[in-house]
Amino acid sequence: MSVTAFEVPPKPATATSDVAQTSQTSAQAEPHVDEARLHALVQADAQVGIQNYGRLAVGFKRGRGARLWDHAGKEYLDFLGGIAVVTVGHCHPAVTEAITRQAETLVHTSNIFYIEAQVELAQKLHQLSGGMRAFFCNSGAEANEAALKIARKYFHGRNMRGDAQRADIITASDSFHGRTYAALAATGQPKYHEGFAPMPQGFKYVPLNDIEALRGAIDENTAAILLEPIQGESGVKPADDKYLQDVRALCDKYGLLLIFDEVQCGVGRTGKFFGWEHSGVRPDILTLAKGLGNGVPIGAMLASEEVAKNFVPGTHGSTFGGNFLSCAAALATLQVLEDEDLMARAERVGAYFKAKLEAWGRETGLIDHVRGRGLMIGAVLTRPIARELMKASLERGLIFNAVGTDVLRFLPPYCISEADVDEAMQKLEAARQSLEDAPSE
Ligand SMILES: Cc1ncc(COP(=O)(O)O)c(C=O)c1O
Repeated sequence: MSVTAFEVPPKPATATSDVAQTSQTSAQAEPHVDEARLHALVQADAQVGIQNYGRLAVGFKRGRGARLWDHAGKEYLDFLGGIAVVTVGHCHPAVTEAITRQAETLVHTSNIFYIEAQVELAQKLHQLSGGMRAFFCNSGAEANEAALKIARKYFHGRNMRGDAQRADIITASDSFHGRTYAALAATGQPKYHEGFAPMPQGFKYVPLNDIEALRGAIDENTAAILLEPIQGESGVKPADDKYLQDVRALCDKYGLLLIFDEVQCGVGRTGKFFGWEHSGVRPDILTLAKGLGNGVPIGAMLASEEVAKNFVPGTHGSTFGGNFLSCAAALATLQVLEDEDLMARAERVGAYFKAKLEAWGRETGLIDHVRGRGLMIGAVLTRPIARELMKASLERGLIFNAVGTDVLRFLPPYCISEADVDEAMQKLEAARQSLEDAPSE
């Protein structure tokens, strides 16, 4: 039997319910938060916070491994991992120790000076990527901004090759690359552009996995193609391996740069460190963020030797990017991934989970198909009840998110076990039954 990557501590004395109770008595489940505390929080946020998030009425106080505890001490199984951020588990002792040690030593100086942990992290990523150089920032959007800038800079002034006008970037419909302006323009979802005109120029969108559409979109102005090897935000939609291979061939034929946004699918989530490793297709530029620091903000833009030399002093930078604290957290995270063989675990437990979801789908008729790799999983429903199912599961102590009306997205920490999956399936089934039992309007 598999064991969890590290021990879950005993529940606090204030706990009002436990997992077993919650799943067995789901119909009469206790309120899952301390109502008064939560109410005060919601009220205060409504007065002082910019209301740009549609939040669920839950707040967490503590986490360990794949477990979270809310304000009332109720325990949850976290199959969302802070949206693909918590890779090695909440508050992993080795990461906590690295953060604590670094916080006691030195947190920040500036990129004017050398930062040992930053160089060490770049060395690690250089080795993992087979020779790419690294630039560090603080988020996925920033990593993509750096990628888009370096792609355009690569073609700037290449008059000898007649490339001087190449600045256009082709991306995929339904892609998601972040909320800053260029990353937003690269995002192939018009709903996110609405109200923010004028958008930066030079972006085109083509359907994913349609090589002819891509071929048709390339012209003399095209500089780069930007893709997520597995689209995350729009509901876990993988690019076919053959498609990626054909995209690489087109890039080579026309001298274009290939950029992979691995902000969500990178850092081991698919069972390999980079999502592209499944297809064998190497990008020229690659972005990482979410999972790299196990919750401490850090982003990275990796570039091949040839592309990397286009950023020279003064062309790009970040005040906080690659500081002592975030790099210490990322180094510790990568060490734990290796020490605990967590990528292999993500692959194994991910396959187990996928099979369980498929079997559940056959029994209930509720699942059309399950897609994704490793622990990046999307379950496509046959009925538009994703949000209701997500909320009913949350009440039963299982966290995941709903994409649109019909996709359940699971992005758990890699330390989950087969037993955790079994528990999650019980909660999911209890949630489904509660919806079946609920009186219709
Ligand atoms: C593939 C991808 N790229 C970029 C981003 C943006 O990352 P951030 O929110 O850290 O700016 C996200 C966030 O969901 C993402 O999934």
